[in-house]
Amino acid sequence: MSLEPEAFREVMGRLAGGVTVVTALGGDGRPRGFTATAVCSVSLVPPLVLVCVGADAATPGAIREAGRYALNFLGSEDTATADRFAGSKGTKFEGVEWVAAPGGSPLLPGGLAWVECTVENEVEAGDHTIFIGRVAAAAIESAQEPPLVHFGGRYHTVASLDQ
Ligand SMILES: Cc1cc2nc3c(=O)[nH]c(=O)nc-3n(C[C@H](O)[C@H](O)[C@H](O)COP(=O)(O)O)c2cc1C
Repeated sequence: MSLEPEAFREVMGRLAGGVTVVTALGGDGRPRGFTATAVCSVSLVPPLVLVCVGADAATPGAIREAGRYALNFLGSEDTATADRFAGSKGTKFEGVEWVAAPGGSPLLPGGLAWVECTVENEVEAGDHTIFIGRVAAAAIESAQEPPLVHFGGRYHTVASLDQ
């Protein structure tokens, strides 16, 4: 069975995903980042995460140069940040007051939580590269704000089904 990329994208769009901005400090000292939903927790001991990055993206170069990256988990108020970092402009960080994680990776203001990791392994997979990262530091910044979720090509947040 052959599946057109657009049809595959549409089907995978029915899998709701938390929205993350993946950041790294380039070798030139400039911050880079992009919006991603292909982010996942891999292992608890040791703590490992992964992100799948498209071959055409600019950020993989910065991840390789830094040997580390950060995951910034966005909240429901952060759709503008998600859109900004999904663009291709080199000015994504203009006016953004980011701070450095312990290893130097850029952390965005206003996120729910962040994780910084060192690159443990890089796996080529089709038109993406999977960067497996060993977590070096992580923190929750806002335990109350609901998350930003991407589903069916649009942004949403979550509703609890608990009684
Ligand atoms: C909701 C959403 C989720 C995305 N998820 C991913 C992803 O998981 N991996 C990826 O490589 N690109 C993903 N993208 C596309 C990138 O954000 C986009 O290609 C970006 O321009 C890459 O930036 P860069 O070239 O500066 O690295 C996503 C975009 C949106 C809007």
